[in-house]
Amino acid sequence: MKKILLTGGLGYIGSHICVELINKRYEVIIIDNLSNSSKNSLDGIKKITGYKPKLYISDLRDKLSLLRIFKENKIESVIHLAGFKSVNESIEAPLSYYNNNINGTITLLEVMDQFDCKSIVFSSSATVYASSNEMPISESAPLAASSPYGSSKLVIERMLQDLCSSDDDWRISILRYFNPAGAHKSGLIGEAPNGSPNNLFPYISKVAIGDLEKLKIFGNDYKTQDGTGVRDYIHVVDLAKGHCKALEFMQDNKKIIVVNLGTGNGFSVLEVVKEFEKACNKKIMYEFSERRGGDLDKCYADPSLALKLLNWKAKLSLNAMCRDTWNWEKKK
Ligand code: WQD
Repeated sequence: MKKILLTGGLGYIGSHICVELINKRYEVIIIDNLSNSSKNSLDGIKKITGYKPKLYISDLRDKLSLLRIFKENKIESVIHLAGFKSVNESIEAPLSYYNNNINGTITLLEVMDQFDCKSIVFSSSATVYASSNEMPISESAPLAASSPYGSSKLVIERMLQDLCSSDDDWRISILRYFNPAGAHKSGLIGEAPNGSPNNLFPYISKVAIGDLEKLKIFGNDYKTQDGTGVRDYIHVVDLAKGHCKALEFMQDNKKIIVVNLGTGNGFSVLEVVKEFEKACNKKIMYEFSERRGGDLDKCYADPSLALKLLNWKAKLSLNAMCRDTWNWEKKK
């Protein structure tokens, strides 16, 4: 079986990618420093797939540890998710974001190169797009990060482009995520943010289960159908399947690709609240509050390149995202 190193593989998105890789008969090796994840994910992956991936608890910046992993395992490709990912946290602590995200990636790429492992899928983000873009956003839209988090993603994208120009043996897929949401249908893995959630879905889920009193909707005066922010929510299982498609593409293509992973549909905060109420059969209490700094009116993808290059298209609905999130929340 082909060995895939999954960095950050115990995280919300990583654990779902791990399940899809196992379903596709890859041998998965996880490296995770547990900074925003827990070993519980490993139990969930085992219960879902019957297979427990090898786990190295380590930080990507620990070069000796990374060298040992590559010595002990003949790694075919890397799917690289490990990194800090909170926009507001990055504004408060930019250096930790640049250090963790960029230095971690540099060490990883150096060791990959040393072991002649030149195939990587990189987890990027829609936050690399300029806020002034027309909707829907295509991969050729202007780039301008508006946070240290987004800047770290942009720097890594540029590093990968330069690496590919310097050595055409590299096969690189840069996947720009829109808004991942939902959970595996088993309810055995899902999003478990430390502390109070920043993102909409986990926050609504905590209100529904009674851990939080009400949702604050950040602004209702945006230029959208109901005044609340519109985003492109994509089911985390669809997102995970997109990574398997990228691996397949790289088998036959020595090149670098940049692809949006979104649905192409935008839903407002109020539409998500309504859909979640249907899924959990409860009222979600909310109040309107001030806008959150850095938020856009709208952000949703043009997903056509993913279909063309990867033969991948998101299939799961907003209702499925709400239903699966609620199923996970109840089982946690
Ligand atoms: C969605 C909408 C908020 C919480 C961020 C990152 C992005 C990606 C996904 C990493 C917005 C509104 C939210 C709340 C609210 N992460 N909202 N009350 O900001 O689109 O994207 O997460 O890659 O990089 O930027 O997602 O879920 O925080 O917000 O009203 O308590 O919900 O204003 O309109 P966002 P989000």
